Amino acid sequence: MSTLALDIGTYSIKAIAGTAGPKPKIERIAEVFNTTGIAVPTDDVSQDKLVNLIESVIVDNDLPRTDVRISLPESVISTKIIEIPPLSDAELASAIGWQAEQHIPIPPEELALEYQVLYRGPKKEKEPMRILLVGARKQIVDRFVDMFHILGIEPSLVETHMISLIRSLMFTPEDPNTMIVHLGASSMNMSIIQKGELTFVTSHMNGGQLLTKALEQTVGLDQHQAEKYKRTYGLDETQFQGKVAAALLPGLQILTAEMKKSIQFFVTQNPTESIQRVVLSGGTAAMPNLVQYIAQELGTEVLVAAPFTGIDGAIPETINPPAMGVCMGLLLREM
Ligand SMILES: Nc1ncnc2c1ncn2[C@@H]1O[C@H](COP(=O)(O)OP(=O)(O)OP(=O)(O)O)[C@@H](O)[C@H]1O
Ligand SMILES: [Mg+2]
Repeated sequence: MSTLALDIGTYSIKAIAGTAGPKPKIERIAEVFNTTGIAVPTDDVSQDKLVNLIESVIVDNDLPRTDVRISLPESVISTKIIEIPPLSDAELASAIGWQAEQHIPIPPEELALEYQVLYRGPKKEKEPMRILLVGARKQIVDRFVDMFHILGIEPSLVETHMISLIRSLMFTPEDPNTMIVHLGASSMNMSIIQKGELTFVTSHMNGGQLLTKALEQTVGLDQHQAEKYKRTYGLDETQFQGKVAAALLPGLQILTAEMKKSIQFFVTQNPTESIQRVVLSGGTAAMPNLVQYIAQELGTEVLVAAPFTGIDGAIPETINPPAMGVCMGLLLREM
């Protein structure tokens, strides 16, 4: 059976069709500009628009409607990692609602909650266990999933961007402490992986769009030109008299300041640890000289996510690999 993994971003809708599981095979990839600019509808009008767009992405690219897997953006999710005294599964199930109330800023009657045990120590020891809490407003999740119902599709998997993305990065417990920075168009999501385990997730409402806007205003370009200059010259100071790089810097400083805050938070919680590596993901990760800039600002090694490494199937040249991590993570899940 073919699987369809979908990532609905504010800039583009990304889709991968193929055989799912830990050894996936890609049959088709599509990236379509999101003319609505909306990733999560909040009313009937925006929902209708997005439904029509998703339908045309599926039809135009001959994508399957079986095993459709989707992911919710972090902007509408509250993800927390908590430590609690060790409990059995049954005890945890009855305590989790109360825990969520303490940590997730959504009233219980409106909350859609999922949780997962990240760490449970050996039986006899009283070591705390670590739990991943993922909460969202029911109304938002329902409307999102309803878009697929309208299209006659019952999604087989609904998770969150960060969970999908982390799967595509295939961490092992031996990996150094790593911060993932996922830079999309309208958001930047960050998470920290320590010994292969997720320890922190945060979302910030700025991304590549901020950089395009800055270029439009400072250099006096239209949106299309600004997008092109950003992709071609990026932070390369030797190009275009350094004007593009100079126009992009203030926006990047806002983004790197958020990255530094996340690292600082981690170090405060774990005074003996440090972040050794940053993995850049999302469409913006492909910007010329961004890796060098962030490496210099943060003083860490910086890598760009390569979600197609070792994966079977033809990847078109036009596809920007770091933008496809969420889709790849969805496809990689075994069910
Ligand atoms: N080569 C490139 N250089 C610089 N920026 C790029 C490049 N390719 C894409 N981008 C930028 O990446 C962003 C799109 O990335 P992505 O596809 O991850 O966003 P999205 O998922 O649609 O957005 P979001 O998740 O924030 O809703 C756009 O702002 C685009 O301008
Ligand atoms: Mg995105």
